[in-house]
Amino acid sequence: MGRILVTGGAGFIGSNFVHYVLENTDDSVTVLDSLTYAGNRASLDGLPSDRFNLVVGDIRDSNLVDGLFADHEQVVHYAAESHNDNSLHDPRPFLETNIVGTYTLLEAARKHGNRFHHISTDEVYGDLELDDPQRFTENTPYNPSSPYSSTKAGSDLLVRAWVRSFGVLATISNCSNNYGPYQHVEKFIPRQITNVLGGVRPKLYGAGLNVRDWIHADDHSSAVLAILNSGVIGETYLIGADGEKNNKEVVEMILEQLGQPTDAYDHVVDRAGHDLRYAIDSSKLRSELGWLPQFSDFAAGLSSTIEWYRDNEAWWLPQKQATEARYAVQGQ
Ligand code: NAD
Ligand code: DAU
Repeated sequence: MGRILVTGGAGFIGSNFVHYVLENTDDSVTVLDSLTYAGNRASLDGLPSDRFNLVVGDIRDSNLVDGLFADHEQVVHYAAESHNDNSLHDPRPFLETNIVGTYTLLEAARKHGNRFHHISTDEVYGDLELDDPQRFTENTPYNPSSPYSSTKAGSDLLVRAWVRSFGVLATISNCSNNYGPYQHVEKFIPRQITNVLGGVRPKLYGAGLNVRDWIHADDHSSAVLAILNSGVIGETYLIGADGEKNNKEVVEMILEQLGQPTDAYDHVVDRAGHDLRYAIDSSKLRSELGWLPQFSDFAAGLSSTIEWYRDNEAWWLPQKQATEARYAVQGQ
């Protein structure tokens, strides 16, 4: 039985990880989260109080972080500014949290000798052509496109440097696009589901041919636990579930599952610098750590995600209007 400190545990993937750990292990969890617009206490409702607590605070607060690292052997670092569109309009919080925040945590891990796992993204590798037979591997050169992905690339490089120069006991994982419950309505899949539920047509950026490699958040969580328990210090692992789909296909599936005509969507202004395609080769994780995704059927995973949003309007409705007001200003 261990105690895991989870930064960003009130966000989408972090909260799914917390639920996963509490349901599938005997470990206890402390969440450190500053509850930005993307963090939501309600995502952690109902967790057992003897095994879970939430500390509201900033990962850049070195005194707070120092105390928490002294008390926890293992740390999983999810906290970040995570949305590409926001990073195009105001990059500064991305530099602050993703770079300075990660640096603050690494200094604490260096002092206290924690086992540190850094959560990152496939976007650090840039994008692929639609017809490229290659997928990203751990050896693909870094080539980030957006302010968001460049700060994530920067944070990965800080972790590598702290491993090599200071012996920090860290691993890194770079995962593809997640879907599932508790995802903020600014993101593609929940935005379109909640649009259709509210009688609004889905919005596709540009032609809608950009490809993302979808993975269910629970598969991401099981991979992170495998790396935390058995990963080799200093190594990077790519996490993906062979889930490539273009955005148009995903919108059509959402419309179909919600009983609407599959062409009832609008094309809107494209994202600046929009990455064309992401695709992950996760063979290293599968062969070295024996990990396998459980959600191989995207249509079924999407259907249960739609059900979750249908059943949990009280969770997302308070954020919907402000989110759509931001998009409207951008013509999206
Ligand atoms: P999210 O935006 O839903 O959640 C981020 C959480 O971090 C929020 O709860 C927020 O309050 C918290 N946070 C932000 N700044 C903070 C600060 N300075 N101090 C403390 N807490 C802070 O993000 P997400 O989609 O769950 O992504 C989590 C992590 O996974 C990120 O590191 C992201 O880069 C990575 N990732 C995401 C995806 C994806 O598909 N969403 C895929 C691969 C990797
Ligand atoms: O690949 C991993 C990354 O996936 C993570 O690092 C990021 O934190 C996460 O936000 C996600 O980034 P994307 O930019 O791929 O996700 P987003 O949900 O914003 O968009 C997915 C695709 O859908 C992308 O091609 C843009 C498009 N899109 C998005 C929105 C919000 C639309 O066509 N319409 C929309 O309304």
